[in-house]
Amino acid sequence: MASKTVPYVSTVAELRKIVARWRKAGERVAVIPTMGALHEGHLELVRRAQRKAERTVTSIFVNPAQFAPTEDFDKYPRTFEDDLAKLKGVGCDLVWAPRKDEMYPGGFATRIVPAGAAEGLETDFRPHFFGGVATVCTKLFTQTGADFAMFGEKDYQQLCVIRQIVRDLNLPLEIVGVPTVREPDGLAMSSRNRYLSADQRARAITIHHVITKVADAAGKGRGLEKAIEDGHAALTTAGFRQIDYVAVRDAETLKEWSKKAGRPGRVLAAAWLGETRLIDNIAVPAAKR
Ligand code: PAJ
Repeated sequence: MASKTVPYVSTVAELRKIVARWRKAGERVAVIPTMGALHEGHLELVRRAQRKAERTVTSIFVNPAQFAPTEDFDKYPRTFEDDLAKLKGVGCDLVWAPRKDEMYPGGFATRIVPAGAAEGLETDFRPHFFGGVATVCTKLFTQTGADFAMFGEKDYQQLCVIRQIVRDLNLPLEIVGVPTVREPDGLAMSSRNRYLSADQRARAITIHHVITKVADAAGKGRGLEKAIEDGHAALTTAGFRQIDYVAVRDAETLKEWSKKAGRPGRVLAAAWLGETRLIDNIAVPAAKR
């Protein structure tokens, strides 16, 4: 009888042994870094990975290095058995689930400090965040020796930062960005959505409506400032208690964007609904000819 779950390993040695076997057979490997609490968004990354590589490794590791002491590390949802069953359902080959002391053994002292795409936006509010993400992802890349790594556009700045690191450090893998998977009403799927009450869930969709309107104004080249102002008002009316940012940026560098430059733009937003911080982003539609 086929097993109901995906095999998992928790030491670098075991992981390397399995990957070496695949490589010997000429198979390519894609890694899907996650923190677990898997939903359709994560599973879509696995499906896309299967189109790129013969073998897929999903990592599940709630990375303490990217949480500030005040953030939700302790209460971050951990649903390991459930995650394994979901990954089995999509045909993932292996789960890489290191314990904390396997990832960060005693004496661990190296940190990747990304700049460029990491400047501003999230960093203004979570200054520790991208250092932690960059360090763990670089380790995940070297631990797995993957040819491809899949990242969601849902965390758009994270995707840009990872691309920057891979370029800057000549890491020998390709980063593949995957469009955001949304609920039927448009809310971006997120492991943190489960923190929302039914009432908050109904209000949460406003963030998607706001970035859509701002992107529309940016694309038309008319009324952008007003759209951002109205967006703040709409979020406040919907009960968001704090708006970290609603911004339009260059889609690649994340520096200031203006329509005149003729480059792709991206609208990004982050705001708090009760104790839950939601983020979302969307492309500025290209100008019609
Ligand atoms: P996590 O939030 O678990 O997300 C893992 C991956 O799934 C990320 O690349 C994220 O962008 C993608 N993802 C999440 N929701 C998505 C959605 N609705 N549609 C498409 N992709 C989605 O991001 C992290 O973990 C961590 O920072 C990590 C990269 C694993 C480093 O610790």
